[in-house]
This record gives sequence, structure tokens and C-alpha cells, in this order.
Amino acid sequence: MTNILPMILFVILSLLLFFFQLSTSIDTITQFQSLHDGNTLVSNDGTFELGFFTPGSSTNRYVGIWYKNMPNRIVWVANRDDPIKDNTSNSTMLIMSNDGNLEILTNNNQTLVWSTNITTQSLSTTSSHVAQLLDNGNFVIKANNNTDQQSNNFLWQGFDFPCDTLLPDMKLGWDLKTGLNRQLTSWKSWDDPSSGDLTWGIVLSSNPEVVLKKGSVEIHRTGPWNGVGFSGAPVEIVTSIVVITTSVNNSNEVYYIYSLVNKSNVSITYLNQTTSHRERVNWIPEDDTWSVIESLPKDDCDVYNRCGPYGNCVHNESPICQCLDGFEPKSPKNWDASNWTQGCVRKGDEDWRCGVNDSFVRFYGLKLPDTSHTWVDANMTLENCKNKCLEDCSCMAYSNLDVAGDGSGCSIWFGDLIDLKQISSFQQYLYIRMDASTVDVSGGKKNHTLAIAVTIPLIIILLLVIIVFYVYKRKRKQREMNTLTEIKYEDQQDFELPLFNISTMISATNDFSNYNKLGEGGFGPVYKGTLATDGQEIAVKRLSGSSKQGSKEFKNEVILCAKLQHRNLVKVLGCCIQGEERMLIYEYMPNKSLDSFLFDPAQKKLLDWFKRFNIICGVARGLIYLHQDSRLRIIHRDLKPSNILLDNDMNAKISDFGLAKICGDDQVEGNTKRVVGTHGYMAPEYAIDGLFSTKSDVFSFGVLLLEIVSGQKNKGLTFPSNNHNLVGHAWRLWKEGNSEELIDDCLRDSYIPSEALRCIQVGLLCLQLHPNDRPNMTYVLAMLTNESVLAQPKEPGFIMQRVSNEGESTTKSFSINEVTISLIGGECAEKKNKEVGYRERENKESDWVEKKEARERRRKGHVQFNV
Ligand SMILES: *[C@@H]1O[C@H](CO)[C@@H](O)[C@H](O)[C@H]1NC(C)=O
Ligand SMILES: *[C@@H]1O[C@H](CO)[C@@H](O)[C@H](O)[C@H]1NC(C)=O
Ligand SMILES: *[C@@H]1O[C@H](CO)[C@@H](O)[C@H](O)[C@H]1NC(C)=O
Ligand SMILES: *[C@@H]1O[C@H](CO)[C@@H](O)[C@H](O)[C@H]1NC(C)=O
Ligand SMILES: *[C@@H]1O[C@H](CO)[C@@H](O)[C@H](O)[C@H]1NC(C)=O
Ligand SMILES: *[C@@H]1O[C@H](CO)[C@@H](O)[C@H](O)[C@H]1NC(C)=O
Ligand SMILES: *[C@@H]1O[C@H](CO)[C@@H](O)[C@H](O)[C@H]1NC(C)=O
Ligand SMILES: *[C@@H]1O[C@H](CO)[C@@H](O)[C@H](O)[C@H]1NC(C)=O
Ligand SMILES: *[C@@H]1O[C@H](CO)[C@@H](O)[C@H](O)[C@H]1NC(C)=O
Ligand SMILES: *[C@@H]1O[C@H](CO)[C@@H](O)[C@H](O)[C@H]1NC(C)=O
Ligand SMILES: *[C@@H]1O[C@H](CO)[C@@H](O)[C@H](O)[C@H]1NC(C)=O
Repeated sequence: MTNILPMILFVILSLLLFFFQLSTSIDTITQFQSLHDGNTLVSNDGTFELGFFTPGSSTNRYVGIWYKNMPNRIVWVANRDDPIKDNTSNSTMLIMSNDGNLEILTNNNQTLVWSTNITTQSLSTTSSHVAQLLDNGNFVIKANNNTDQQSNNFLWQGFDFPCDTLLPDMKLGWDLKTGLNRQLTSWKSWDDPSSGDLTWGIVLSSNPEVVLKKGSVEIHRTGPWNGVGFSGAPVEIVTSIVVITTSVNNSNEVYYIYSLVNKSNVSITYLNQTTSHRERVNWIPEDDTWSVIESLPKDDCDVYNRCGPYGNCVHNESPICQCLDGFEPKSPKNWDASNWTQGCVRKGDEDWRCGVNDSFVRFYGLKLPDTSHTWVDANMTLENCKNKCLEDCSCMAYSNLDVAGDGSGCSIWFGDLIDLKQISSFQQYLYIRMDASTVDVSGGKKNHTLAIAVTIPLIIILLLVIIVFYVYKRKRKQREMNTLTEIKYEDQQDFELPLFNISTMISATNDFSNYNKLGEGGFGPVYKGTLATDGQEIAVKRLSGSSKQGSKEFKNEVILCAKLQHRNLVKVLGCCIQGEERMLIYEYMPNKSLDSFLFDPAQKKLLDWFKRFNIICGVARGLIYLHQDSRLRIIHRDLKPSNILLDNDMNAKISDFGLAKICGDDQVEGNTKRVVGTHGYMAPEYAIDGLFSTKSDVFSFGVLLLEIVSGQKNKGLTFPSNNHNLVGHAWRLWKEGNSEELIDDCLRDSYIPSEALRCIQVGLLCLQLHPNDRPNMTYVLAMLTNESVLAQPKEPGFIMQRVSNEGESTTKSFSINEVTISLIGGECAEKKNKEVGYRERENKESDWVEKKEARERRRKGHVQFNV
């Protein structure tokens, strides 16, 4: 009873406080309420925050919105052009006036600094209003009784007045009914949010484009929307896993918008006035930073009208401007002097009389020309489109309007074709008008005899050249055969290894974005990608700069590896060699690798005994193939669960085979100074002395086998009962006759005791200290699948009782857990490629650290054998 009075007082007090001033966790301002400088509104889900701020070294105050957890980036400013000069924090506030407008007042003399300026007419229809900061960052004024967050019945919304940042769900473009043009405008400087001169918005035409301008000068355009993406911005086209972009064009609205695939991601587009670029950045929570995903203009060729009319800009070529086929420089003198402004003209332009006999040449992989002067029809067939273009002498080109499916609609261009760029990753045909006489496909008969007279001698000469060339090639080949005995050239000729273009890889993997990264091994990071051409999913392993080999040798190695085709090996689809870049393209395995199942408490339940046994046998078959059946005799040297990938049916596929060879170490058997492998899986003779053979793979297979049966990692886990790792633990249990204790608890219901125990015993046989004692893989598979009596294993070779402290601390710098320690890898990954901005996370320690470490270990005997 005595408690009630204070409670009532408290409630009254809090209510009073509430009405006088907003507390911080509120997302709305109602009429007659105010938000004082120092307080903020926070959206209902806590994503966005609205409040007063002072940018950079300015002394002015502004009202703005930012991500609550990333306060350093302002995404919206209310009064960017009306700063609050009075910066004494208790004197300013944001209020909702009695007519329903939001206003910023400096309190001392009630000066109005900024107002939403809604006409009272539109406000008077509803009785009361609130201003609310929505979960998507939109600050709106709406009728009090309107609870719908998505509703468009807002009386006013901040999204209609973008600043320099485009948030997800925010429209960029036109409301044709009201004439409102929402476009991004950069800040003047980082200290001054007032409108700068860089803008990004939609330019209206029959085929609208998004254009970046500095002042009135066009810097870059995206190219028209082709139903799937913008024709000139390939990275946006490849459906990103973070955002989906769409473009809308109808009689009411023309806009571009993007939304997040997963709402917990943060991805924004903004204008950077320092660089005059439009950038898309994603928030990387792990690193607490923004990462630039895309920056436009991306290269020289993205700059508007770089090469003049009919000039095609080809990035990375010199000169970057080339006339389209059938065209020649308008002024060869200027053109040769790298002044491309005048562009190109049709060959024989003076004689050209436009006519219905003209024909069209199909061009592929061009960014569609500027659409300022175009005409479109969404329903017209391509044939009708062509005829429509033929009728008009100023029509210079046509194409499909929409490339989705087989393509549809018609888009035709009048006047010179401007701002062309070669893009490799996206398919769209552009048909360009040509003079009937210059195109041989045309039906022009007038020069028939002349044509024959010219072509026949030409063909004869060509044939002669081909024959001479062929003979020369054969001679050269024979010479090469003598020197390169291992590689049989004849074999290769019928083997087509797809060579991928680097730009294809960049667009397939979103410019090797972190989001596409599947993992990272000693030979380099692996990215997931999607080929734009057919949507095939691929995995790209990027071996930045394999130092040892020239591109030809590298290619030969890859061809040999690609020829290794086996059900239990991951298929190599091709490679990409360009400059320093070396990449291997594999088929993509949606189920990832074995370790992601085996060592995950939830996922491991999906692997019942039957599946695990199947995986064991699959790996064994794959190894037999590598060791014996293939021509190459490959020792894998880094067999471990993360290198075993699983297909849809949980069949094992070995990956990374042959990489040691490709990366420059082509010894097949013997002694190497460089050690490739992973602690916990390496055979003792290999880890310590660098001696390797197929039997070192057998050892690794033994570790793998025990891991699969037990669901435990060999390394990183010490068994409490003794100081042993998994191998030691298994050995002890086996000696005690308690092997069944080793079997994974998850398997209790599904395992077949005889099979599981057999696996453990075979595993121990593989782990014997002396390589000669270990069975070969053929025998291993036979033991696993037959009922025969097994030999008794001798003591395992590598009961490592944790590498001593010193050893640990040096190995730590290489890897946290499972990263391959590979000196070759270190070398392979050592060279950074600055061009593509590849950021290397891996160790950069060079060989000598590892060599020294190995020597050291040997000398001090850190690796302890269980004696
Ligand atoms: C306010 O502005 C004055 C100059 O106009 C400056 O000296 C002062 O430091 C500013 N105060 C704050 C809190 O920014
Ligand atoms: C604002 O703060 C200053 C100093 O803190 C104080 O002198 C002044 O009276 C305050 N003004 C108002 C309107 O609260
Ligand atoms: C209010 O502010 C305006 C503009 O800053 C100024 O001209 C005016 O003198 C001020 N009035 C009073 C009463 O302080
Ligand atoms: C509101 O109207 C006033 C007076 O016409 C004008 O000076 C001011 O810039 C307008 N504010 C906004 C945000 O449009
Ligand atoms: C809100 O109230 C106004 C006026 O009272 C009414 O016309 C309108 O239909 C109401 N809207 C909703 C969503 O209830
Ligand atoms: C865009 O919409 C306008 C008006 O509906 C239409 O005339 C035009 O053809 C459309 N353009 C495209 C590319 O769909
Ligand atoms: C979105 O991402 C979060 C964090 O990465 C994840 O927990 C959640 O499952 C994801 N949601 C969907 C629908 O993918
Ligand atoms: C962003 O998306 C990626 C891919 O969907 C996901 O892996 C990542 O966890 C997401 N980040 C956040 C903060 O949700
Ligand atoms: C703008 O670009 C420059 C140069 O790349 C960069 O340093 C700066 O951080 C960028 N600005 C923002 C706000 O990201
Ligand atoms: C390029 O050529 C055009 C036409 O002759 C001329 O007007 C222009 O000044 C030249 N530009 C440069 C940079 O020389
Ligand atoms: C184009 O086709 C669509 C669907 O077939 C139809 O709704 C539309 O009216 C057609 N437009 C024209 C201009 O014929």
C-alpha cells in the first residue's frame, strides 16, 4: 500500500517528461512535440538514428540520419542547404508545428531555419499528423492513424529529397505526375553537406538511363536498362547475392531501385565528391569497415564518349579507342595523335546513299549507345524493328529492348552512335546499319563479277599462306617435342580446355568480392561465381602469380589436370591466364567440403554411417586413380577434410589435386625442400625430412579415416584422458580393445560395427610409422570392402603431443587452424596483384621461416614420438 503513492508520482513524472521532451528510444514526433539538439530518434528496429550533427571541421549544425551502429556516415540531411549557424546545443530543435510541418527553429528568437514547406491545403484534410523515422531510413510525415510502413500515403517523405546516398528501397528517378526528380547530389565537401556539383540521376528519354554528371558535363552513363540490368554496368547485372536491382518505367514513374536480399546486410550507393565517383559500399561487420564493391566510372572506357561516334573503347588495349569494323577514323591524323573526339565514319561514307538495300552488321558485347535519340516499342519483333529502322535514313542501329529470354521488343537509334564500350561479360546484339555495297551478306548484285575477280586470287593466296604456316608449325612442334618429353602435344590438340577471360571472372565473382569468397587455402583464395553466359555456378581458385612457370607451361599442367577425370575428383572446367593472374575454374559443389559437415555439431547428424562409409570409399577410389591409374601419378600431399568436397548426393570429390605440380614443384617422388601440407595430416617422414611418396598420402588418408569415423579433429583437440591427439587416442583404445568408443556418438543408430571397426583398423594400418609398412591405396580399398582378415597395425607414426610452445608460436603466424602450410603456396600467393586490388590475407612469410622452423624442430626434437 505504501508503495502506491510513489508509483503514481513516478508515472505522472515520466508522462510529464515524455511530453516535454522526447526520450531517446522513440521513432516519432507528434504535433507540438520537439526534438532538442542532443536527443535522437531511433527507428523501431534500431537500424537508423536521426539527430543533430556537425560535419567535419564545420561549426554549423544539421539534422541528419545515419545507421545507428555506423555513426560516421550520414545518409541523409534535412537542412543541407539551410545550416543552423547557432551551434549552442540547447537552443535548437526540430518540431512539428501546429500546421503539421516539420521545422527547425533556433529557440532563442524562434528563427525558422528550415521547414518541410507542405502546403496547408494538403495537410488540412487530415486532423493530426506524426513524423516518424521508418525502419528503412525514410523520415515521413503522415496521418496519425496511418500505421502502414510501406504505404505511399505520406504527406511528405525524406526519400523524395535524397542527398548523396541511395539507401535500399529508395527510388532514384522521376515521379512524372508531380515532376519530382529524385537524384543524388554530392556534398560540397566533407565539411559542408550543401549541394555539390556531382549528380547521379535518371535522364528521361524513350529509353531512360542513369547518368553521372559533374556540373553539366556527363561523366558516365550506365547504358539503358535491358530487362536484366544496365547494358554498360556488368557488375550490377550479375545477380548479386547482396542486392537486387530493378528499374521501372511506366506512364507514372521512371525510377531505379535496389533492395537487399538479406535485410541484415548493409549496402548503400553514394557519391564521393573527392573522386567524382559513384560508389557502392557494403558494411563488413567483421572488419568494422565499409568495403567498396563497385566504383563508377570503373575504367577509362567508362568515361562518357571517350572515343567519339562509332569509336569503340576497349579497356586494357592500346590505343583504347578502335573504330568499329567497317568504320575508319574521321580524321586519321587526329586519331593517330590520340585525339579521338571526332570518332569514326563508315568506310566510303561519301558515296553512301541511304536506302532500303542497306543491311545491318551484328555486333556483340557492346555497351549500347547513348539513348538520347531513340525510339522504342516493347512489342515489336526484331524483324519489324529492322524494317522500321530501314525506313528512316537517320536510323543507325537497332536492338532488342529486353534481353530476357530470347529477347523482345525494339529499340532503334537515330544519329551517330555515341559512347560505345567493349564489354565481354554480357550478351546483347546491336545491329548497325551499313552501306549495302560494303557488306558482303547484302544482296547487292552490281559488283558480282568484280567480287569474283577479287576473291578468287585472294582465296588462293590465303590457302598458300595456311599451308606454309602449317608446315612451319609442324617443324617447330617436332623440335619442341624433343625437349619437352613429358607433354604430348598431339593429345592436347583434341582437348579443348576453355580459357576464360579475366573480365568474365571478375564479373562472375563480383570483382572477387568478399561475399563470394568460399575459403582460402595456401594456394590462394577460392571464390564462388556465376557465369553470365549460361548461369553455371563455378568455383574460382585464384593462384595469384605462380612465379615458377610461364603461361604456356601452366596451361599445359592445367590441361593435364583437366584430363584427370574421375567420379571422385572435382572437375577442372578451365583456367584463366592473364598477366600475372593464374586462376583455375572448377565445378561448384553446393554442399561445400567435408569438414563443414564433419566438425559441425548440427551438420554432422546429416552424415549417417552409410554416407560416411561411401565417402571413405570414394576418397580411396579417387586416390587410387591419382596414384596409379592416371598417366600422371599425382601425389596429393594435402589431403584433409576441407579438400574433400561433396556433391548433391554426398559423393566425395577430391579437390586441389595436382596443385603442387601446377604451382611449380613438379617433382613426383623424392625429396623436396618445400613442404606442402597441413599439420595433423602430414606423414612424419614428410613433415620432418621432406620425403614424400604415395605412402605419405596413405598416411593422410588414415587420419582422414579416423576423423570421419570419430567426427573429431585430429589436431586442435587433445583428449582429456591423456595428452594424445586423435591418432594417439585411437591407438590407445585399439590396444585396450575398446575401439568402439572412438565411433562418433551421432552414428550410434546407424553404424555397422564390423564395418566401423574395420575402418578404424585400416586407418591405423595407414598410420604406421614406416612408409613401407603402410598399405597402398588399392590394398586399402580392398581391405575396406572385403571381409578378409586384417593385419595387426604397428604403432602409429605420429603421435604428436602438441608441438612445443616454441613451435606453436611460429606456426600460429601461419594459420589459425586449418590453413594449408605451404611454401609453394606462400610463393604462389606472394605476389600481389595490384591491378585488381586483391587484398591478401594469407601469410606473407617466405620460405625461409618455414625451412628454418622445420630445421629447428628437427634439431630440438620438438616433434615427440610416442615411445
Ligand atoms: C560554435 O561556433 C563557434 C564559432 O562560430 C565556435 O567557436 C565554437 O567552438 C562552436 N561550438 C561548438 C560546440 O561547436
Ligand atoms: C543554454 O545553455 C547555456 C549554458 O549552458 C545557458 O547559459 C543558457 O541559459 C541555456 N539556454 C537555454 C534556453 O536553456
Ligand atoms: C532573430 O534572428 C534574426 C536573424 O538571425 C535577427 O535578425 C533578429 O534580430 C533576431 N531577433 C531577436 C529578437 O533576437
Ligand atoms: C520553404 O519555403 C521558404 C520560403 O519560400 C524557402 O526559403 C525555403 O527554402 C523552403 N524550404 C524548403 C526545404 O524547401
Ligand atoms: C484516418 O483518419 C482520416 C480522417 O479521420 C480518415 O479519412 C482516414 O480514412 C483514416 N485512415 C486510416 C488508415 O484509418
Ligand atoms: C517508358 O515509358 C514510356 C511511357 O509509358 C514509354 O513511352 C516508353 O516506351 C518506355 N520506355 C521503355 C524503354 O520501356
Ligand atoms: C541473413 O543474414 C543473417 C546473418 O548473416 C543470417 O543469420 C540470416 O539467416 C540470414 N537470413 C536469410 C533469410 O538468409
Ligand atoms: C551479408 O550477406 C552475406 C551473404 O549473404 C552474409 O554472409 C553476411 O553474413 C551478411 N552480413 C550481415 C551483417 O548480415
Ligand atoms: C572517397 O574516396 C576517397 C578516395 O578513394 C576515400 O579516401 C574516401 O574515404 C571516400 N569517401 C567516403 C565517404 O567514403
Ligand atoms: C581534338 O581535335 C578537335 C578537332 O580537330 C579539336 O577541336 C580539339 O581541340 C582536339 N583536342 C585536343 C586535346 O587536341
Ligand atoms: C504489348 O503487349 C502487351 C501484352 O501482350 C499488351 O498488354 C500491350 O497492350 C501491348 N502494347 C502495345 C503498344 O501494343
